Amino acid sequence: MPDLSTTFTGVRFRNPFLLSSAPPTESESNILRAFEAGWGGVVTKTIGLHPVVNVIGPKTKFLRADADSPRLSMKKRPGAALHSSWNWELISDKTLDWWVPRLGRIKRAFPDHVLVASIMAGSGNDVELRHWQQLAVACQEQGCDAVELNLSCPHMDRPDMGSNVGKDKELVSIVTQVVKQVTSIPVWAKLTPSTTDIVVEARGAFLGGADAISSSNTFTSLPLVDPETLEFEVNVDGLVSTGGLGGPAILPLSLAKISQLTQAFPDKAFSGIGGISTFEHALNYFLVGCGTVQVCTAAMLDHAIGPNVIRELTDGLGRFLEAHAGHGWTCVGDLVGLRRDRVVAQSRIRRPTEKDYRGGYDAEGYSAPEETKAT
Ligand SMILES: Cc1cc2nc3c(=O)[nH]c(=O)nc-3n(C[C@H](O)[C@H](O)[C@H](O)COP(=O)(O)O)c2cc1C
Repeated sequence: MPDLSTTFTGVRFRNPFLLSSAPPTESESNILRAFEAGWGGVVTKTIGLHPVVNVIGPKTKFLRADADSPRLSMKKRPGAALHSSWNWELISDKTLDWWVPRLGRIKRAFPDHVLVASIMAGSGNDVELRHWQQLAVACQEQGCDAVELNLSCPHMDRPDMGSNVGKDKELVSIVTQVVKQVTSIPVWAKLTPSTTDIVVEARGAFLGGADAISSSNTFTSLPLVDPETLEFEVNVDGLVSTGGLGGPAILPLSLAKISQLTQAFPDKAFSGIGGISTFEHALNYFLVGCGTVQVCTAAMLDHAIGPNVIRELTDGLGRFLEAHAGHGWTCVGDLVGLRRDRVVAQSRIRRPTEKDYRGGYDAEGYSAPEETKAT
């Protein structure tokens, strides 16, 4: 059996597959089951200091596509394939005090599995920045191997929380820096994909001392309107707010974000997230430059913690390494970034004729610069 282990931000993983911060990691029993099932690591459901109250009714729904019609709907029906998950769930409804003894117990039961604590606080003033430090120190004291900063939840009202922090490069930097000041374990920053140029916020995180970037959290989105009732497919009393899209639909979107990041920072560490349910999906993230990957939607749909998903991921990696032993690839680290530099500007893609394409800077289907000036 090939060696599936890897080292990421200085932490050794038995395999590079983690459950991401979400319902699969919301409880001690789920996390213990996940480790028993073979996940190399888990990122806990995001932990805060104060209790949160979720909306009434379902917090997550699944959008499905028909094979023989363009219909997209959350309505359950036979033969439909998963398109995406949609959620408006807030962070853990259990506070730090609830989590602390459990984190310690989990780590003692599975010392060789990687436990990452996801944390979130407000960021509007010094008191709130100290909350980030309090959360990070408490998790570190319980033996957590790393912390992941939730700078990316897409459904927070406060302008200094979640993806609203992730859209502000200065706040990203400050939050990362204050957490780095009090921790000796690695600090991962989970960024939102809902910005113009994720490289800008990533630079802020690295300037603040981040050891890795995790991407992507869910993409800001709305459920669709039911054409018969004219109601959103998820609503409470007819009302909806923006939530997050995950699952298969976001795999290519997230991959584009990761590709931007790994090209801008080829020497930094990245944990890829978005739409992964098989090794072939994960392989995309490794090849563009991720050292680990994380899974949520696929695990939610597979006995809540993904026992079949992790079996397929580890079997797939094992099979792949065996099949490619001739290339000298002996571990996942050998695959990381192998296709990073294949993503180039349009003007670098070969044209069918001898003529050069000049990326829109010369007259070729566009008006020439001189003509533009003349009009
Ligand atoms: C119901 C639900 C709850 C989530 N809660 C959190 C959270 O508390 N913290 C966080 O960082 N990400 C959270 N996420 C985002 C996931 O960790 C992950 O980034 C996203 O779902 C994309 O991965 P996927 O395509 O495998 O689902 C949540 C996702 C879902 C579906």
